[in-house]
Amino acid sequence: MTTLLEVSDLRVTYPGRGFRARSHEVLHGVSLTVGQSETLGVVGESGSGKTTIGRAVLGLVAPSGGTVRFQGNDITRAGRAERRALARDIQVVFQDPYSSLNPALTIGDILGEPLIVQGSGTSEARRRVAELLDQVGLPKDASQRLPREFSGGQRQRVAIARALAPAPRLIVCDEPVSALDLTTQARVLDLLVDIQRRTGVAYLFISHDLAVIRHVSHRVSVIHRGDIVETGTAGQVTTAPEHPYTQRLLLAAPVADPAEQRRRREARQRL
Ligand SMILES: Nc1ncnc2c1ncn2[C@@H]1O[C@H](COP(=O)(O)OP(=O)(O)OP(=O)(O)O)[C@@H](O)[C@H]1O
Ligand SMILES: [Mg+2]
Repeated sequence: MTTLLEVSDLRVTYPGRGFRARSHEVLHGVSLTVGQSETLGVVGESGSGKTTIGRAVLGLVAPSGGTVRFQGNDITRAGRAERRALARDIQVVFQDPYSSLNPALTIGDILGEPLIVQGSGTSEARRRVAELLDQVGLPKDASQRLPREFSGGQRQRVAIARALAPAPRLIVCDEPVSALDLTTQARVLDLLVDIQRRTGVAYLFISHDLAVIRHVSHRVSVIHRGDIVETGTAGQVTTAPEHPYTQRLLLAAPVADPAEQRRRREARQRL
């Protein structure tokens, strides 16, 4: 498989907040790769550094060490012009479907304006917006409506359509379904998988939820306090994890069966 994204020995340090607060390193040398048309799941508990990895890939935080390579090019410290060009290839979908869309713009403008800025004519942009709405399973007339007229799941479909607009090679998905109910989660995840099959886009898929990660990922990296502790195929990592931390994470995932829940609670106490 051709490597699309290669993160090597990535370190990120955040400055301390407040008087004499010490800066602290939150990523201690993270390495991972995402292949073309592949989904790499990154799973770990809250505060482990998942979002920070995504931010470093998107150029929203400056690493203190290590490199980020995209299609073989070092983009760790890409300048503004280079970032603007990269935005065609690397897109993002965030967790919160309520704050990530401008409430004053129609869906047609949200999806169409970036296309026009990038040089499409109005009729070409309109055609592309219709195509994008169709791709994410939204009705054609959605383009005349405002974000508040849509449910959380539908808004996340709009956010996905916006990310797909420039036909990127990689989408960073940071907890894209965590704000949605379970049924809607499953539908949106199936949509992402389906889009990947049709377009060949790759995902760096970040979630704290092992069930979600298992549903979409080809491979999985487990992060614990700023270190990747285990990487393997989704099947391996989510059924027969090697690292004790992943074993605890797996046992902590809720299950419907009370007997199984009890067995896991006991197993967890033994670890
Ligand atoms: N802008 C910031 N300034 C200072 N510290 C930060 C900043 N952003 C995150 N941190 C700290 O960095 C660590 C990693 O945060 P990060 O948001 O990457 O974790 P996460 O795994 O995405 O967590 P969650 O699952 O809650 O989203 C945490 O300890 C967090 O408090
Ligand atoms: Mg996060």
